Amino acid sequence: MRRSILLFFISGCVCLQCFWNSCPFKHFSSKTPYNLIRGDFRDSVVKIKGCKPTNIWTIIRHGKRSPGRRFGKYMKETVTIKDFISKENSTLCAQDVDNLKNWQADSELFGKPSSLTKEGYLEFYGIAKRLREAYPELFNNTEDDAKYFLQSAIGHWVEDGVEGFIEGLSNDNQLRIKPAPALDKVAAPFRKCANYSRLVRWGPTVYDEHDTYRLSKEYQKAKKRIEMRVGMSLTYDNVSALYDLCRYTWSGIEMKPSPWCALLSPKDFEVMEYLGDLRHYYRNGYGNIYNIIMGEYVMADLYKQFKLATEEGGNTLTAYFTHATVLDMTWSALGLYKDTKPITGAAGIHKRKWRTTYLSAFAANLLAVLYKCDNDFKVVFYRNEEPIKTMCHHGVCSWSDFENKFKPFLNTTIEELC
Ligand SMILES: *[C@@H]1O[C@H](CO)[C@@H](O)[C@H](O)[C@H]1NC(C)=O
Ligand SMILES: *[C@@H]1O[C@H](CO)[C@@H](O)[C@H](O)[C@H]1NC(C)=O
Ligand SMILES: *[C@@H]1O[C@H](CO)[C@@H](O)[C@H](O)[C@H]1NC(C)=O
Ligand SMILES: *[C@@H]1O[C@H](CO)[C@@H](O)[C@H](O)[C@H]1NC(C)=O
Ligand SMILES: *[C@@H]1O[C@H](CO)[C@@H](O)[C@H](O)[C@H]1NC(C)=O
Repeated sequence: MRRSILLFFISGCVCLQCFWNSCPFKHFSSKTPYNLIRGDFRDSVVKIKGCKPTNIWTIIRHGKRSPGRRFGKYMKETVTIKDFISKENSTLCAQDVDNLKNWQADSELFGKPSSLTKEGYLEFYGIAKRLREAYPELFNNTEDDAKYFLQSAIGHWVEDGVEGFIEGLSNDNQLRIKPAPALDKVAAPFRKCANYSRLVRWGPTVYDEHDTYRLSKEYQKAKKRIEMRVGMSLTYDNVSALYDLCRYTWSGIEMKPSPWCALLSPKDFEVMEYLGDLRHYYRNGYGNIYNIIMGEYVMADLYKQFKLATEEGGNTLTAYFTHATVLDMTWSALGLYKDTKPITGAAGIHKRKWRTTYLSAFAANLLAVLYKCDNDFKVVFYRNEEPIKTMCHHGVCSWSDFENKFKPFLNTTIEELC
C-alpha cells in the first residue's frame, strides 16, 4: 500500500489515508446512531405567519440498543480477530492496529442482549428536549397528563426509552405512559395477521434479494478488501459481525468512531448499507403490499388525531414509540423515499431514495405539527428534525392537501389479506 499522503475533500473535511485520521463514514443502515443523521428542531422549526402550533403527532423508533443474543454471540466470537491482526499481515495503518488492540467492550455491549443503552436513553431525551425548546408554547404545562398521550409498543428496550423522552419533555416526570393494548393497530399493526407472519416477516423469500447481492461481484470485492485488512479469510457471518462491531460501538453521543470501523473502507460500507436496505425494503417496505397497508393504519391515526384536534382541541401530543418495522411501513404508506424501480440484489443501486440510514436509524422519527391559522389549518412534517421537503410545499401542507392525502387511509382494511 502506498503511504504517500492522499488528500480527499469530502464534505469540506480533509481525509488522510488511515482510518484514525480520516473523515469517518457515518451511514450504518438501521444501526446508525441518531446523532449521525439528525437535524435539530430548534434550528429547523417552521414558523408560519398568522398561524400558531397547537398539536403534535409523532412516531419514533426506539433508541440505540445492544445487539440481540444471536448477533451478539457472533460479535463476541469475532472480537478475537483483533489478537491476530498485526502490521505484518494486514494492510491497516499502524495506529489503527494499535487502536483496535486497545479496544475493550463496555459492559452494555454483551452484558444485556437487546436492551436499551445509555446512548439510546439520551437519544430520546434529546429529541424531547429539543422539541420542547422549539415549541415551548406546547410544553409549558406538562402537568396536565390528559393532553399528552404516549404509547409504547411491546419491548422493554422501547418502553425504557420512553422515560428518557418524558424526562426531556417535562420538568416533573409526571407523565404517564399508556400501556400498549393487545391489538395495537398503530404501534404494532402486524400483530394478529397470520399471512403477514407467514409470507413477509418470516417469509421464505423475504431475504432473496439480500442473498443475491451477497453473491454479486460488488459484495465479493468488498469481502476481499476486508480480508486484506484483517489478514485472514472470512465467512459472511464474520464480515457481518465485524460490521456490527463497528456500528454498535460507534458512539453518537461522544461523536467518536469505533476502531473496528478501520476494517471497512467507505466503499465497503456502501455495500454493507445496501445489504441492510435490501433487507428492510422487502421485509418492512415497498417490497411487499402488506407493509404499505399496515403503514396506512398508522397514518389513519394521524388523520384522526388532527381532525379531532381541529374540532375539539385533541391531545397536545400524541407519540408512539415503536420498532424499525413500523417506521419503514409508515414511510411506505406515504409513498416517500420510493425509487422508480424496486431495488434488487443484481447490483447495488447507489443513487437511491430508500436509505435505511435515514429511514430507520436508532430513534428515527416522523413528526407532524398542526398549526391553527386565521381561517385554516396547516400541517408541517419533519423527518429526524428536518422538514420533509417532498411533502406538499417543503414540508408544509394546507389543510386540504392534508385531507386529500390522509383521509383515504381511514378506509384501509387488511382483514381479507390476513
Ligand atoms: C467466522 O465464522 C465462522 C462461522 O461462520 C466461525 O466458526 C468462526 O469462529 C468465525 N471466526 C472468527 C474469527 O470469528
Ligand atoms: C499475523 O501476525 C501475527 C504476528 O506477526 C501473528 O501472531 C498472527 O498469527 C498472524 N495472523 C495470521 C492470520 O496469520
Ligand atoms: C403556555 O403558552 C401559551 C402560549 O404561549 C400561553 O397561552 C399559556 O398561558 C402558557 N401557559 C403557561 C402555564 O405558562
Ligand atoms: C371510503 O369508502 C367509502 C365506501 O366505499 C367511500 O364512499 C368513501 O368515499 C371513501 N372515503 C375516502 C376518504 O376514500
Ligand atoms: C391468507 O390466509 C388465508 C387463510 O389462511 C388464505 O385463505 C388467503 O388466501 C391468504 N391470502 C393471501 C393473500 O395469501
